[in-house]
Amino acid sequence: MEFQDLIFKRYSVRSYKKDPVEKWKIEKILEAARIAPSAANRQPYKIIVIETEGRKDELRRIYSTEWFVQAPVVIAICAIKSDAWTRKDGKNHADIDCAIAMDHIILAATDLSLGTCWICAFDVEEARRILGIPRMVEPVAFTPVGYPDDAPKQKKRKPVEEIVCYDKWQ
Ligand SMILES: Cc1cc2nc3c(=O)[nH]c(=O)nc-3n(C[C@H](O)[C@H](O)[C@H](O)COP(=O)(O)O)c2cc1C
Repeated sequence: MEFQDLIFKRYSVRSYKKDPVEKWKIEKILEAARIAPSAANRQPYKIIVIETEGRKDELRRIYSTEWFVQAPVVIAICAIKSDAWTRKDGKNHADIDCAIAMDHIILAATDLSLGTCWICAFDVEEARRILGIPRMVEPVAFTPVGYPDDAPKQKKRKPVEEIVCYDKWQ
């Protein structure tokens, strides 16, 4: 798919079919994450692939909507801050690296006709407990991965003049 088509095709899918996701598609999605750029090439994250079948009740404690567990697969990305590149003013880049890798996951899934939805409004402590995430690692984002059972809505975005300026801040 052309990149321009891909970025317009992606939307936040909030209803999923039960159909299984082919293993080769998950592998392609994970390869897209692996190849993502990261500050100083540190890749300071761990990606957790979770099958929802048989775990729906506990997974709903992480993010309590029905559609979160409708898809057969949920993917989480967790930041390992101690592995990340830190700028000399102290800014740790793990969250940025996680966001780039997650966006690769999401765009790769879209390219394979799969639906996804960025989820950050989850319960961090429940995510730690249920997925066994250690203290020094931070779950950053989740997405279901499955076949969409809804349709995209009209995109609402700020006009380009509102988000872009040239030469200096104005
Ligand atoms: C960092 C981030 C966090 C988000 N967290 C949530 C979330 O917790 N729950 C949710 O339903 N949508 C979440 N979204 C989806 C946004 O609401 C959505 O991307 C935005 O409204 C634009 O709609 P679209 O994705 O359909 O183009 C998140 C998106 C991003 C980028």
